[in-house]
Amino acid sequence: MKGKQHPANDVTINPSGNESIREVLDRIDDTRRSFIKSGVGASALAAIGGITVGGLVDTVEAAPIPAGAGFGGIGFESIPPTLAPVVDKITVPPGYKVELLAAWGDPITAMGQAWAEDASQDAAAQEHQFGMHNDGMHFFAFPTAGGTGQSSERGLLCVNHEYTHDAILHSDGLDATQGIATSVLTIQKIRKGQAAHGVAVVEVRKTGGQWGVHKSSPFGRRITGNTPVRISGPAAGHPLMQAVKYSITPTGSVANGTTNGREGFGTLNNCAHGFTPWGTYLTCEENWNGYFGTTAAPFTATKLERRYGVNAGGFGYKWHVLDDRFDIRKSPNEQNNFGWVVEIDPFNPTSTPVKRTSMGRFKHESAQVAVGPDYSVGFYMGDDERNEYIYKFVCTNRWNPRNRAANMNLLDDGILYVARFTSNAVAGKANTFRGEWVALEPGTIALDGKPLRENPEFAAATDAEVKALILIKTRMAADAVGATMMDRPEWTALRTYSFAGRPGSLYSYGPGMPLEVYCTLTNNSRRGNTPVSSNNPNGSTGAASANPPVDAANPRPDNDYGHIIRWREDGNSVRALGFEWDIFVQCGDKLTTKTLGASYTAAGHDGYVGNINGADFGAPDGLWFDHFGRMWIQTDQAGDASGDWRNIGSNSMLCADPNSKEIRRFLTSPRNCEVTGVVSTPDGRALFCGIQHPGEDSLASDPDQFSNWPQNQFTTNSAGQPVPNTPGKSRPRSSVVVITREDGGIVGGL
Ligand code: FEO
Ligand code: CA
Ligand code: CA
Ligand code: CA
Repeated sequence: MKGKQHPANDVTINPSGNESIREVLDRIDDTRRSFIKSGVGASALAAIGGITVGGLVDTVEAAPIPAGAGFGGIGFESIPPTLAPVVDKITVPPGYKVELLAAWGDPITAMGQAWAEDASQDAAAQEHQFGMHNDGMHFFAFPTAGGTGQSSERGLLCVNHEYTHDAILHSDGLDATQGIATSVLTIQKIRKGQAAHGVAVVEVRKTGGQWGVHKSSPFGRRITGNTPVRISGPAAGHPLMQAVKYSITPTGSVANGTTNGREGFGTLNNCAHGFTPWGTYLTCEENWNGYFGTTAAPFTATKLERRYGVNAGGFGYKWHVLDDRFDIRKSPNEQNNFGWVVEIDPFNPTSTPVKRTSMGRFKHESAQVAVGPDYSVGFYMGDDERNEYIYKFVCTNRWNPRNRAANMNLLDDGILYVARFTSNAVAGKANTFRGEWVALEPGTIALDGKPLRENPEFAAATDAEVKALILIKTRMAADAVGATMMDRPEWTALRTYSFAGRPGSLYSYGPGMPLEVYCTLTNNSRRGNTPVSSNNPNGSTGAASANPPVDAANPRPDNDYGHIIRWREDGNSVRALGFEWDIFVQCGDKLTTKTLGASYTAAGHDGYVGNINGADFGAPDGLWFDHFGRMWIQTDQAGDASGDWRNIGSNSMLCADPNSKEIRRFLTSPRNCEVTGVVSTPDGRALFCGIQHPGEDSLASDPDQFSNWPQNQFTTNSAGQPVPNTPGKSRPRSSVVVITREDGGIVGGL
C-alpha cells in the first residue's frame, strides 16, 4: 500500500532541540506576528492550540460539497476480535507498527528517576514520573521555525491520569477492591497514590525516525492530587467553596484556617479532556466522589452529597482515614472544590492550573471545543453516570486569535446549558428529532413554573450568588429544568471535514458541512428497569438510583452495549438554542442470544444485537475525529472476552465513516484493559493511543495475575530503550503507544 502523497511540512524548531522555554515562547509570538502581518489571524494561535487550520481558507470559501465528501476514507481492512483466552498484546492491521511510547513510572522530567519494576518508589519519585492509568490526552504541536505550520515531530503530549490500582501501585500493595486493610495503609502510600493521579505534560519528539519522551524537557511537568490550584469563575469564593486550609506534608495534612474559596489543591480522577484554540489543555474531573469519606459515625449524607454519590466509605481508597483533607466531616467543603474542568497552560510550566467553575460541577468526562466563524467558542460535555445529562458551555466573549493573553480567562464568563432531547420529529428527515439547550441561569423557568432563583436550592440575595449555587449544584439545576436523562454520556467529538487529502479544521461549517457533535453513551443497566422512576425535579434523587423508562434518545431497556448519539446545531452556530439529533449507531453483538431480564419493561426492546454496519463493539467511551473526517471509537468493557463480551472480545479501537456509518476494527487490546485516549500529530502520520489498567483487579499478591503488558509485548520502547521485565517483580503498566504506518502514510488513511 503506497502512502498518499502529502507534504509533511515539518520543520523541526531547532535541530539541536535545546531551546529554552523563553526561546520557544518567543517563537510562538513570532509565529503570531507573522500571521497578523499576513492577515490570517485565525491561524496564529491555533498553530499552538493543536487545531489543524490547513483547510481554513478552502472551507470558508468552498461551495456546497456533495454528500459523501469531506471524508478521507478508511484504508485498512477490519481485523478480527481478540477472543478468549485474550492474548496479552495490542493487535493492529497489517502494514501498521505499534510501539511503546510512555508507561506508568517512566521519568518525564529532568529530575525523574528510572522506573523501579517492583513499584518500590515513593511519592517524591512518582511526582516526576508518568502517572498511573492514563486516559484522555491531547498533542500540542510546537510551531515550526519561521513558518505557519505545526510540527509533526515535536510537541507536548498532555495526558490525564485517571485513577490508581492500589494493589499494584506499591511493592506491598493494597487490595482496594477487596477492601484496604487499614493496618497496611500509610500516609506515604496515600501520598504516592495522590502523586500518581492528575496530568502529565510530556515533551515527545521524533528523532532519527524514532518517537521518544524528551525527559529533560523544561516543559516536562506533573500536576497531581496535591498541586496548588486556583478556583475561578462565578462559584469562586462562595462560602460553599471555602474549605479547611491545609498544609500538605509528607506525614499528613495540617489544618491552618479556612480558604477564601479561590484556592485549593489538586485535581483528581482526570478522565477525558479537551483543549482550547488558545493552546491550553482542559482536564476533566470525573469520579471525584470516590476519594472522600469519613470515619465519623453515625453518618448521614446531605442532599447534595447524595446527588453526587458522596458517602462515608468512598471507593475504598481510604484517604480520609489518614489525610483529613478527604474526611467530609472534618473538611465538609473540600468536596465542593472537585467536579470541575481544570485549565492548564502546557507552554508555561510554572502556571497554576485553574478550576473553571463556569463550566459546571458534575462527573465531567470530556469538553470538546467548537469554534464559530465569528470566533464564538462552545464546549460540549457529558456527565458520566447513569441517568445524567449532556451540557454545553458557551463563552460570552469571542476568542481573540491575535492576543493569546486576552483569552486566558475566557472560560470564566459564559452560559452553561443542559440538553433536552425531544421526540419531535423533523419533517422530511428520517429518524431525526429536535432538541433544545436550556440555560442554567437564575431567570430560567423550571418545571415548577418558577425561575431557578426561586428554587430553595439556589435562592440567594443576588443573582451572582444564585448562579454560584446553580454551578456548585449543577445536577440539581438540570433536574429542575427537566433535562434528558442519558445512558452515561462519555466523550463528545466534533466532526471534521477534509478536502482533497488536506486536513480539515474546527471552522469547517457551512452548507453540507454541519456543525455536528457526537457523544458516546456507554451503557445503562437502569434504563427500563422497574420500578420506574426519574430524577426528581427537586434534586433529591441519589446518584444513579433512578430507573428511567426508555425514550427517543435512549431507546433500549438494559442498554448493555451502549450507543452513539449526534446532533447538528441550528444555523451551524455554537450559540444555537436548538438542534436536530439522531442516533448514529446502536452497539451490540450480532451473534448474541441474550434475552431481556425479568426486572426490565420490554417496551422499546429491540434486543442486544445492535445495528452496526461492520465490526461489533460495545461500551463506546473514547471518541475523536482525526483531521481527515474519520471518527475513532474506543471501548471500555470488561476486557476479558467473557460473558456479554465473548463474541466481541477484548476492548478495541474502531474507525467509522460518518457518511455511510461503516465501522471497522483497527486495534484490539491486551487483557482486562480499557482503550482510552487518542490523538495524532497534525499530519496524521503518528497516532497516540492509550491503554489503561491492563490486568485490572489483580491482587497485590499476584500483580501480573491477568496481564503483564506492556512487558509481554515489548522488550524496548519506541526510543529503543529496554523495557525491564524481571520475573517476580514486573507488573502491568498503563501506557501510551504510538502507531505508525510502515510506508509512512496517514494512520487510517487510504
Ligand atoms: Fe472515566 Fe466515564 O470514563
Ligand atoms: Ca471514559
Ligand atoms: Ca467508561
Ligand atoms: Ca475502565
